[in-house]
Formats: sequence, structure tokens, C-alpha cells
Amino acid sequence: MKIQDRTFIISGGASGLGKSSAVEIIKAGGYVSILDLSDEEAGQELEKELGPSARFFHCNVLESESIAKAVQGTVDWVKKTGKPLGGVMPGAGIGLPAAVLNRKGEPLNMDDVDFVLGVNLRGVIDLVRQTVVHLAKVDPEGPDGERGVIILVSSSSAFDGQYGQVSYAASKGAVASMALPMARDLAGYGIRVVAVAPSLFVTNLTAGMSDRVRKAIEDTFVFPNRAGNPPDFSILVKHIIENPMLNGAVIRLDGASRLSKL
Ligand SMILES: NC(=O)c1ccc[n+]([C@@H]2O[C@H](COP(=O)([O-])OP(=O)(O)OC[C@H]3O[C@@H](n4cnc5c(N)ncnc54)[C@H](O)[C@@H]3O)[C@@H](O)[C@H]2O)c1
Repeated sequence: MKIQDRTFIISGGASGLGKSSAVEIIKAGGYVSILDLSDEEAGQELEKELGPSARFFHCNVLESESIAKAVQGTVDWVKKTGKPLGGVMPGAGIGLPAAVLNRKGEPLNMDDVDFVLGVNLRGVIDLVRQTVVHLAKVDPEGPDGERGVIILVSSSSAFDGQYGQVSYAASKGAVASMALPMARDLAGYGIRVVAVAPSLFVTNLTAGMSDRVRKAIEDTFVFPNRAGNPPDFSILVKHIIENPMLNGAVIRLDGASRLSKL
């Protein structure tokens, strides 16, 4: 699908992998609606930085109403620009490492479990379901009659989660598992679904990691022997949008790394 003159919704688009994807889409002539927790002032700064092809909508993906407002805001903006929706990347995500039984013998806190699953799983499904209502009404494009693309953000933790990653791995494993059934659900509307599973990428999410943990993960990268940078992710996002044959897949983006026991 062409990126030019289409609008893509990105949750978590104010930072890291989401922001880099927004930049890449704008570079290719697309428009981006960024949904994030930042306040209006920070949102306006972001709009200034990214230019007129970007709009910011304050949104907490934990709340259906908040998503509904941001999606409606995007639909209204699209009416003004005349650049139809082209897809959604529900990238908002959080960590919150905690072992199922920690070193003090305390069990995992269920509020923390709910929080991680709420943002990383429920929030993803909710944003997708509210967006596809509108995406399904877009005029189909090209010989395949494509209407849009959904780019899910999983993680290598979906396959080789580390100590303290039970909730995070459960959420990201679920996201990876959704790619195929979601692609099957939406095929009749000409909407594709692809999940990306990155290993360690240098973003705010991983900024708080100890040097010991970072080094241990970096050492698992076979080639190149370094953590990923956001542009390594966003060039893949661009390709996923443009390549109609990518559908229902989970793409590992990890320099052949396999996370080890920490
Ligand atoms: N960085 C990595 O190593 C890595 C690896 C694998 C997967 N991921 C996934 O990539 C995605 C992007 O992460 P990142 O590394 O760019 O992190 P990041 O912290 O730089 O960006 C995440 C963004 O999500 C937003 N967000 C968090 N909770 C939200 C909520 N409730 N509602 C709306 N927005 C919310 C944050 O404000 C932030 O802007 C996440 O889903 C993350 O799990 C990251």
C-alpha cells in the first residue's frame, strides 16, 4: 500500500519506536495521528517538531473513552486533510518487571499484572477495534483492493522472556498470537496485520536498564553486535506498509539474538 497521502494512527508515537515510525511515514509523504499520554503542551511541541503532517491527540489506551475521542479526532482531521486512513500501529507499551515470586518470597502483585496486560494487550485490541470500523470504509486501493495495515508491536520476550518478565512476556506473546487471527478476521475488508518482535532497542523504555543487564542482552546479538536503534525498526514499518504480501506474520527484529537467562 502506498504511504503517500494516507493517514496512520500510532499510539505511543511521542517516543522511541513509535516516534521514529511517525518520522519515517511523514518522510514517505504520509500523515500521522499520534496518540500518547503526553500533556497538550508536549503534544503541541511534538506537532511543531514533526510538521503539518502530524497531529497529536492525548490518549490513555487503558480507557476506551479516551481512545474513542482520539480516534474521532483523527477521523475529523482526516476529513479536513482529505488523506484517508491507511492503518494503525498500536505501539504504546510499558515494562514493569517483577518476578512471579521475587527474591524476598513475595508473589507478583495482581494490580501490576492488570496494568501491564491493560496497556500492552487490552489497549492494543481496543485501539485496533475502534480504528478498523473507520478503516473498513476507506476506498480500496490498487489491484488487491487494500484498505489498510495494522502493525502490532510484540517483543522477543514473547519467545524468550527473561527473569521478571512474566507479565510483559504474556502480553507480548498474546500480541504475537493475535497477528494471524486478526489478519483472518480483517482479510475480507482488505486489511493486513503484521507483528514485529524487536529485541533490545535504544529508547526511553530501556533507558532505565542497568549496564549489566544491557550488556548481557547486547552480547546475545549475533550480528550486528549492538542493540537496535529506532530507525532500524521504522524502515521495517515502512516496508510492511508497502509490501502487500506481508500478512499474518510475526517478524523477529533482533540481529539473531535470543535472550538468555539473566
Ligand atoms: N525498546 C525496546 O527494547 C523494545 C523491545 C521490544 C518491544 N518494544 C515495544 O515497543 C513499543 C514502543 O516502546 P519504546 O521502546 O518505543 O518505548 P518508549 O517508552 O520510548 O515509548 C512508549 C510510548 O508509549 C506511551 N504510553 C505508555 N503507556 C501509555 C498509555 N497508557 N496510553 C498511551 N500511551 C502510552 C509512552 O508515553 C511512550 O511515549 C512498546 O510496545 C514496547 O513494549 C520495545
